[in-house]
Amino acid sequence: MEQTNKTTIKQSNKKTQNKVQKNNQNNNQNNTFNKTVKELKQVLTKDYICVNLKENPFSKNINSLNKKQIEYVLKQYSIFPKHIVSFLETVRNKSEDNKFKKIVVELTRNIGEELGTQTHGITHYDLLIQGVKEEFNLNISKIDSEESTFQFLANMRKTFSNKNIFHTLGAIYATELSAKPELLIVYKLINKYSRIIKSKKIDDGMLKSFFDMHISVWEPGHEQELYKACKNYVKTKEDLEEFEKGFKEVLSTMDVWWTGLYNELK
Ligand SMILES: [Fe+2]
Ligand SMILES: [Fe+2]
Repeated sequence: MEQTNKTTIKQSNKKTQNKVQKNNQNNNQNNTFNKTVKELKQVLTKDYICVNLKENPFSKNINSLNKKQIEYVLKQYSIFPKHIVSFLETVRNKSEDNKFKKIVVELTRNIGEELGTQTHGITHYDLLIQGVKEEFNLNISKIDSEESTFQFLANMRKTFSNKNIFHTLGAIYATELSAKPELLIVYKLINKYSRIIKSKKIDDGMLKSFFDMHISVWEPGHEQELYKACKNYVKTKEDLEEFEKGFKEVLSTMDVWWTGLYNELK
């Protein structure tokens, strides 16, 4: 009897020990993920110009841009939000194949938002198009991609079709993390345009609420919820390396795009 008790205690001690070890391991892995993301947040504006308010070529040269040039960049830019749902869907489907349930749930929520769950069924893309029409009587729908935008979409598709799930998770995380500073730059361009044609900033209306909601609520939410979901799956050194590669690939692609758009100005 005593022997059995001893064995049971030993077994339960072993179990507790294993549990503690596993918890420590999980904590270490979470710390590594936290640390990597913390570094990537710095890298975003330190090593890349695309969403750096001081270095993005349009933001940097805003004072010398004329009406036609801003129209050009707004029209080309709008093609990106038009495609965002397809990028999100690609990563969601891959996450489903890998049984990364928490990521599937978050990306489904994100896609829902893009398609109108919070905006009476109107997609975010349509809000942008209708907002620009309402504010400036300018039509930016049905725009053909110029060379830089064509290349941009092709490069983004290539990144998202990478076979490694962690690569695509890093890529979609970069897309969500960069969305807020990117929209701040686009908002700056919108207000510059408004000052050129109306001698004032944009009014309260659909376009202003598109930017206000994206900048203060929707995009920070996409980034934070995706971060929390990824933390459960991006574990090993190899996973983190791929995550980082995908992240940087998207930012390089965005740098080339913004630089290309600027060079296309006439
Ligand atoms: Fe959106
Ligand atoms: Fe987003």
